[in-house]
Amino acid sequence: MNAPATQSPATARRSGALVGRVRVPGDKSISHRALMFGGLASGETRISGLLEGEDVLRTGEAMTAMGARVVRDGAEWVVTGTGNGCLLEPEAPLDFGNAGTGSRLTMGLVGPYDMRVRFVGDASLSQRPMGRVLDPLRQMGVQVLEAADGDRMPLTLHGPKHAAPISYRVPVASAQVKSAVLLAGLNAMGVTTVIEPVMTRDHTEKMLAGFGAAIEVETDADGTRHIRVEGRGRLTGQVIAVPGDPSSAAFPLVAALVVPGSDITIENVLMNPTRTGLITTLIEMGASIELLNERMAGGEDVADLRVRASELKGVAVPAERAPSMIDEYPVLAVAAAFAEGETLMRGLDELRVKESDRLAAVARGLEANGVDCTEGADTLAVRGRPDGKGLGGGTVATHLDHRIAMSFLVLGLASENPVAVDDRTMIATSFPEFMDLMTGLGADVA
Ligand code: S3P
Repeated sequence: MNAPATQSPATARRSGALVGRVRVPGDKSISHRALMFGGLASGETRISGLLEGEDVLRTGEAMTAMGARVVRDGAEWVVTGTGNGCLLEPEAPLDFGNAGTGSRLTMGLVGPYDMRVRFVGDASLSQRPMGRVLDPLRQMGVQVLEAADGDRMPLTLHGPKHAAPISYRVPVASAQVKSAVLLAGLNAMGVTTVIEPVMTRDHTEKMLAGFGAAIEVETDADGTRHIRVEGRGRLTGQVIAVPGDPSSAAFPLVAALVVPGSDITIENVLMNPTRTGLITTLIEMGASIELLNERMAGGEDVADLRVRASELKGVAVPAERAPSMIDEYPVLAVAAAFAEGETLMRGLDELRVKESDRLAAVARGLEANGVDCTEGADTLAVRGRPDGKGLGGGTVATHLDHRIAMSFLVLGLASENPVAVDDRTMIATSFPEFMDLMTGLGADVA
């Protein structure tokens, strides 16, 4: 993958105890959806706690290009939507930068419109498979024009005069695919059904219901979910408070576990059960993570997390847990590097098609820093070194992947030798405050 025009390396060094109370930025999945659904709904949507990362801001720009008004008003973002079915043809290509969620969900959102929309992105996004979203859209009558080889971006969509509702069984556990089909269903006449054999994050279902969509979810005895949405209904602007992103909280959380003497509290973290697989796994490994002040906020479970340095033990992480921690494997691998014994992670095939081939990127980064690991086709085994002796000393290739950069900077905080990453710029896609937040806790990272 091509490197960005200007790379900015960073290095993390063994640090003293991390201490303090912090808040991480708003949840990325909910932030994208808040701008998208607000931009589609009639009237005004007011959003507090929005993640102001590059990925999410691109979604705001895309909605603006299609007729919504998206403005910052003090601490809030105010979105005035077009009304369902009333998006306008954008005059220029929509540039989603690094963002898989923004691009794939928007393909679903505008696919059924009788207009041309071109999607472009950076070198990482242009390598990611889009066929998983384009296939169901084709079934609804959407034409895919000018796609790069293997259904990749840049690509252009043109919707039919009248999109056909479909019933679609998602072939991979992917909230992005599920969401794209449901959003396309909003503009097809009749009922669109998504059949989801393995549950993934449910923010689209929950939030669409909040905006007034006619959507229902039925779960079979075997756990298969049938999600039905009625097209062409009215959506109405909402007030949304975005909780802290558990996938961002994961970095200070693992850092506090592995840096001796640490004691930190991360406030206001989203605890939706489809997102908490990392916390379940770390607790099984012996982590001291206390859930304080558990509450409901804006229809979601939220808690403050008190995290203290802990002696971790390797565990086997079941493949079924992958959807609830899909973005957290890189940082789990870092926790595993300081655990006694072996941590075995299974069911990681989807990691190969994230912002980078994350399975390979993690394995190479661990090897470069003296961590004993074995990469399989869809597995990773990591054998830890609780005292961090002999670890570090390498430079990690981040491949335009924010989570690879942040994970390996966490590795450096408890390794004997410094850990460098070749580029920190992509961290701004999801967690622009990362470096400041970590140094504020006492981390030696620059
Ligand atoms: C997301 C779904 C996941 C996740 C991504 C955000 C979403 O992707 O990795 O960071 O907001 O729907 P997949 O659907 O490809 O698993």
